[in-house]
Amino acid sequence: MAKKILIKQERKTTVDGRSIRLSKFEKHYVDDDKDFSTQYGMIKEKDLKKIAGSTIKSGKEEFIILNPVFIDHYKQIKRLAQIITLKDIGAIITYTGLTKDSFVLDAGAGSGAVSSFLGMLVKKVVSYDVNDAHLEVAKKNIETLNLKNVEVKKGDVYKGVDEKNIDVFVLDVPEPWRALKTAEQILKVGGFVVSYSPNITQTQKFVAGLNDKFLHEKTVEIMERVWDVRGEILKPKMKDIGHTAFLTFIRKIKK
Ligand SMILES: C[S@@+](CC[C@H](N)C(=O)[O-])C[C@H]1O[C@@H](n2cnc3c(N)ncnc32)[C@H](O)[C@@H]1O
Repeated sequence: MAKKILIKQERKTTVDGRSIRLSKFEKHYVDDDKDFSTQYGMIKEKDLKKIAGSTIKSGKEEFIILNPVFIDHYKQIKRLAQIITLKDIGAIITYTGLTKDSFVLDAGAGSGAVSSFLGMLVKKVVSYDVNDAHLEVAKKNIETLNLKNVEVKKGDVYKGVDEKNIDVFVLDVPEPWRALKTAEQILKVGGFVVSYSPNITQTQKFVAGLNDKFLHEKTVEIMERVWDVRGEILKPKMKDIGHTAFLTFIRKIKK
């Protein structure tokens, strides 16, 4: 069995010079070993097995078939704990300069979203959490994505971890300042801690807790504005403007 992506583009017509939408854009993540039912009719298993780029008719609608890539699988992961958004994961990757040789420590594992995304890029990720239910979901997601280099462990990062020589330590926990001792012990000189906190009061306490072994590089909030670009409609989609969290980047500068 393989997964396939089905894309149906918006269908429109023009009446008296006005554009009218007949059906909406749709995207489905489907198994190719059984028929897939849509509101327009059934798409047969044999059609789902067609090569990427093929079109399949269902009623008046046309679906394009694609082979999923990592991001399509990633978007299907189960969410129990709130996950870090893609825009913020992007900043973590680029501002710390993660590479295929990097060793990452992540806490808390939560739904395993960050550990999975980074696992797809780096050499190794170890992810800690204190909550059994979250650990279960994170493990399942990592297994589904077939990431062999991501390990999930039970443990409290405020107390310490087994790993050493970490390049990047990602913290998404309620009291990140309590993990600074751990960060000092496990990070390589030159390594980064990225702390992700929804509230600026958490950021304030985190930065206030730094000693002279750390350099506060920056605290940023990444704002993403998705735009509507449809004919003469050219404007930001208001509902997409929202706060997620503050990202604080600190660097270990002394042994
Ligand atoms: C918001 S979730 C993390 C989500 C994760 N970054 C993701 O993208 O899927 C916060 C997690 O931190 C865990 N946590 C809280 N305190 C912790 C600690 N001291 N050590 C390890 N994990 C902790 C919680 O159980 C929870 O699962």
